[in-house]
Amino acid sequence: MSSNLVTVAYIAASILFILSLAGLSNQETARMGNLYGILGMVVAFVATASSAAVTGYTTLLGAILPAVVIGAFLASRVAMTSMPELVAILHSFVGLAAVLVGIANYLGDSSLLGIEETIHKLEIYIGVFIGAVTFTGSILAFGKLRAIISSKPLLLPARHLLNIGLVLGSIYLAIPYMHAEAASGLKPLLIMAVLAGILGVHLVAAIGGADMPVVISMLNSYSGWAAAAAGFMLSNDLLIVTGALVGSSGAILSIIMCKAMNRSFISVILGGFGQGSSSSQSIAEQPQGQVTSIDAQGVAELLSLAKKVIITPGYGMAVAQAQHPVSDITKLLRENGTKVRFGIHPVAGRLPGHMNVLLAEAKVPYDIVLEMEEINEDFSDTDVVLVIGANDTVNPSALEDPGSPIAGMPVLQVWHSTHVIVMKRGMSSGYAGVDNPLFYKENTKMLFGDAKKNVDAILISLKEISPTLVR
Ligand code: TAP
Repeated sequence: MSSNLVTVAYIAASILFILSLAGLSNQETARMGNLYGILGMVVAFVATASSAAVTGYTTLLGAILPAVVIGAFLASRVAMTSMPELVAILHSFVGLAAVLVGIANYLGDSSLLGIEETIHKLEIYIGVFIGAVTFTGSILAFGKLRAIISSKPLLLPARHLLNIGLVLGSIYLAIPYMHAEAASGLKPLLIMAVLAGILGVHLVAAIGGADMPVVISMLNSYSGWAAAAAGFMLSNDLLIVTGALVGSSGAILSIIMCKAMNRSFISVILGGFGQGSSSSQSIAEQPQGQVTSIDAQGVAELLSLAKKVIITPGYGMAVAQAQHPVSDITKLLRENGTKVRFGIHPVAGRLPGHMNVLLAEAKVPYDIVLEMEEINEDFSDTDVVLVIGANDTVNPSALEDPGSPIAGMPVLQVWHSTHVIVMKRGMSSGYAGVDNPLFYKENTKMLFGDAKKNVDAILISLKEISPTLVR
């Protein structure tokens, strides 16, 4: 393919990627957004593979074919609840690729001289730095999300000094690297990659529990910048554009997440810089009171009498795959004249928009699925709230207990409604590992057991009651 044609294809792919991002910003257009993304990637791949810069098709196919098979196999088997882990490990690949491309570029023949050579060496150095931070940080995030590593923040006494030391060490190593002749700068480059790798581990280790969503979007952003850096090293315009799109959209998402969770963006990206001791040692008060349980039939009776119902789903609904019977209950209640809405916390579940995707899949109408800030005022005017497998996102200690590790995080204020039904299997804490005083409130009743089984049972009872609904 001629270089002009490649440029045209790259522009077309860039436009498709932008359309993809625009489409993904809305539930109704998300499918289209995905299609644009796939199409953009196909155009980008074909154009790159057929450009003059690519030779050695046997090697290329030898690398691509097994990768396609492994990727397709793993992605098709991954459960929705494990998607963040998959995303985290994919980010680590981008980081590793940037490191390897950097090292290969450094060792490869370069015809550049003077200022161009200096700029190229600097691109490699920065690319390897970002890549190494992304690589190890993403692996740690993967471990935390998969619960191989504790989700509690690791807060070493001099952690900020350690971070500053690692950054200064990396900057210092740039001096011998930049002055080195031929490939003799490899040693400082590799030592810097190790320091950056330790920095990546430490930055993510220091962030824990409920702040993990920000870490994921932040690593998403880093992986974008790592790809952009690789684009500079390979002089590939499309990789620069795509990397910048991913990097900036990930950064915007991180800022939105931080705002939604009342966290300082700078504090989070610097590994909890400026945080008090609240997240290090939980001095949270133990919840007091009695736990009252209820059965599915009791919940159905309460629902049949309610005029206004709000459902707040969380991670447990995703695990139990209860969205379909939840949708059926919603339909039945609405047919009987009950006002049913959903309250979605920005970090409910394990990935941004997790609950929205599940509810859309179960064909819950979009207009009754509301964001937290749109619905939080309405709980006091609600008869029944069904908390389905949510925990941290409905935890009152975030607002009431300054010693809580989740203090300051806005939550769905479900306890203001007349009746709160919490569906979960036992009394265990949520992802952030914080006890939940909601379970002990007077107006809360616990419906213990698997969310899917319980929602199915409520649906059966509701169908039995529904012809004789009293209001
Ligand atoms: P969580 O606080 O994680 O609580 C989920 C609850 O679901 C658990 O307490 C669990 O209790 C229950 N559960 C699990 N399986 C169940 C089943 N089969 N049936 C019924 N209940 C079940 O959920 P949340 O309120 O959605 O909060 C999300 C948390 O994850 C936040 O802390 C958030 O920061 C974090 N996080 C979010 C993201 C994103 S981007 N959304 C990413 C990483 C981390 P039992 O074990 O007692 O059943």
